Amino acid sequence: MQDHLIIFDTTLRDGEQSPGASMTKEEKVRIARHLERMGVDVIEAGFPAASNGDFEAVKAVADTIKNSVVCGLARAIENDINRAGEALRGTESSRIHTFIATSPIHMKKKLRMSPEQVTAQAVKAIKWASQFTDNIEFSPEDAGRSDIDFLCQILEAVIDAGATTLNIPDTVGYTMPDQFGSLIRTLRERIPNSDKVVFSVHCHNDLGLAVANSLSAVVNGARQVECTINGLGERAGNAALEEIVMAVRTRQDFFSCDTRIDTTHIVPASKLVSGITGFPVQPNKAIVGANAFAHESGIHQDGVLKHRETYEIMRAEDVGWGANKLLLGKHSGRNAFRSRLTELGIELESEEMLNNAFVRFKTLADKKHEIFDEDLHALISDEVMILQEKYRLQSLTVHCETGEVPHAQLVISDDGKELYAESDGSGPVDATFRAIESILASNAELQLFSVNNITCGTDSQGEVTVRIQKSGRIVNGHGADTDIVVASAKAYLSAINKLHNKLERAHPQV
Ligand code: KIV
Ligand code: ZN
Repeated sequence: MQDHLIIFDTTLRDGEQSPGASMTKEEKVRIARHLERMGVDVIEAGFPAASNGDFEAVKAVADTIKNSVVCGLARAIENDINRAGEALRGTESSRIHTFIATSPIHMKKKLRMSPEQVTAQAVKAIKWASQFTDNIEFSPEDAGRSDIDFLCQILEAVIDAGATTLNIPDTVGYTMPDQFGSLIRTLRERIPNSDKVVFSVHCHNDLGLAVANSLSAVVNGARQVECTINGLGERAGNAALEEIVMAVRTRQDFFSCDTRIDTTHIVPASKLVSGITGFPVQPNKAIVGANAFAHESGIHQDGVLKHRETYEIMRAEDVGWGANKLLLGKHSGRNAFRSRLTELGIELESEEMLNNAFVRFKTLADKKHEIFDEDLHALISDEVMILQEKYRLQSLTVHCETGEVPHAQLVISDDGKELYAESDGSGPVDATFRAIESILASNAELQLFSVNNITCGTDSQGEVTVRIQKSGRIVNGHGADTDIVVASAKAYLSAINKLHNKLERAHPQV
């Protein structure tokens, strides 16, 4: 019988550590519901001690999810573990994931602790966590650069203290696949009580090796992989869930384990996370990129037409391409709208929100005849965001003509008060952003501006992501509309609204 490979998704925790990828509580719950439906075993929902916002989001996920284990991250200190325990109280199946750094450089320069002190703190943390749950994961942070003898000692001690999963992180993405695989094998062989725990891996992608390293670990006995949708995560990201799952599924002749993931949810999950975080997926990204199943060369096309398997090792439909069923149009009623939202795992907090969303849906359906799931997600994100925003776009007029200077006029509501502004610019977006700046004066630096079509066709909504930076704080704003200048204005205002929201987050790796 095949072993079970546990999929531990950390999109909502490590994924959220990508600069500007912060998600609201509602967005986290929406993604968590999708992960649950997909068959993810463990959902790491956040780092409850980092901020009240993180705490509330983990609690909301824990209160909602029934078929996946919900996990909260905690440094190996009592207060963090208490916060994680409290946030997870509502779930039947919780896990506390506690960590402390074990590499010489981290212990000496960051923690200023001796290896003996680190071991004592790790053991104390595991024992403390056991009052909340018996499902406890321990990570020796920066294990990829830690001393093997010390790793064996500390891991043996935390197993004795009650840890049930040992997660080996390559925190800085430094190791090579053979090296990382043999690290896992050595730990399993040398730690006397290693048969009492599941070995897990958590690889970062700084050298582009996160997936290769994780798979090498699986070959060497790891039975949990920590990964994220689209490979989102700190710096260059984490191992991509879709690549891990499809490599193991496609190469069942090679791996002696498999996951319980329903792969047809993969592409919708990718689109959902990309839409919510504003991190576009590169077209040539494996599995979920727009070109992943597109054959350009005549020889390939001819081969695929004659016999699909000549050039295709997976079927597009098996990973959910084409799963964004067209179900709604302008004649769809409120009940059809509500039930599609439910199928997508979207629950609005009140009847009033549903009514407002339905009105917006009708307006969109008038402009765009075919409404896809991605349109609904974008519409709901907008609806939820608007309720929390200080500044909202009321109206926008832009004049553009060949040979003329583009000019934008707009009205913004500031907590209900109308503000008027206008400006010239080098193009319609520049004029619009300048007009906004002329009244809101955020003086933030624009770091990224990207436009993507949400679905196919020229009548598609454009989804704009804007990333701005001020005083070291980076935020992303999103906006969607069939008019991309309106979408740009919404995205810029949403980023400015986030700058106003003084939510401070501690960094988990400190
Ligand atoms: O990369 C890392 O080491 C982490 C740990 C908290 C597991 O994210
Ligand atoms: Zn990490």
